[in-house]
Amino acid sequence: MEFVIRPTQADVSSTVADIVEGYVCGGPTTLGLATGSSPLGSYRELARRHRESGLDFSNARAFLLDEYVGLPKSHDQSYFSVIRSEFVDHVNLDPERVLSPDGEAADIAAEGARFDAAIREAGGIDVQLLGIGSDGHIGFNEPGSSLNSRTRVKTLTEQTRLDNARFFDTVDDVPHHVITQGLGTIGEARHLVMIAFGEGKAEAIAAAAEGPLSAFCPASVIQLHQHVTVVIDEAAATRLQLVDYYRYALDNKPPWQAF
Ligand code: GLP
Repeated sequence: MEFVIRPTQADVSSTVADIVEGYVCGGPTTLGLATGSSPLGSYRELARRHRESGLDFSNARAFLLDEYVGLPKSHDQSYFSVIRSEFVDHVNLDPERVLSPDGEAADIAAEGARFDAAIREAGGIDVQLLGIGSDGHIGFNEPGSSLNSRTRVKTLTEQTRLDNARFFDTVDDVPHHVITQGLGTIGEARHLVMIAFGEGKAEAIAAAAEGPLSAFCPASVIQLHQHVTVVIDEAAATRLQLVDYYRYALDNKPPWQAF
């Protein structure tokens, strides 16, 4: 695991955009996109680079982490719509090649396996962006999620519904069920990039990176992965015990070693 602790949110977004740009410029690539507020600055920065410097996404395709069950794709808060309005509409990434779990699937129980097969057929995900919930969830894998789970339907905790109520008119409008890539599915991406800002995420980041590997903190599954970059601001780093070492390691990173 590598930690990149940046002074501001803008610096975090710029580092994440650098990482994604490296993949996009390296040939055909498959991106794993996340929703939520944490990656938004990175999407804006990538869109700016596309607009101003011609960063070309024509060789990229993408898979989303998760989706609400029962929310029509046309709803402005479906993740299908959010990823388009926040990112895909602002770059030359073909929307037909941006796939998300179908929360309206007639056979919702079979949708997860179909989605995992689509990721496999695409050759897997090269780089997966991840936010983290205040309870340590990634995607919509709430505490108690099997560390080897596959894409499937989950029930949201009341805390997550409250956290996400800001995107809806009232908390009652937040769906109870979601379909999310499983922790095992996420773990198959070749590079995980976790993004977090603010003190509200400090505890979850510390639990994910330094706490026990446990279904109680689903994000702790990143400890099993061979290539993880945790890109966070100072406030989100305040609970890390080994923070001095992480800074030292970054400052002394061998020049040949990329993220
Ligand atoms: C939602 C998303 C997650 C995201 C989390 C945190 O639950 N399904 O992918 O990581 O929110 O969101 P935010 O980045 O807005 O704090």
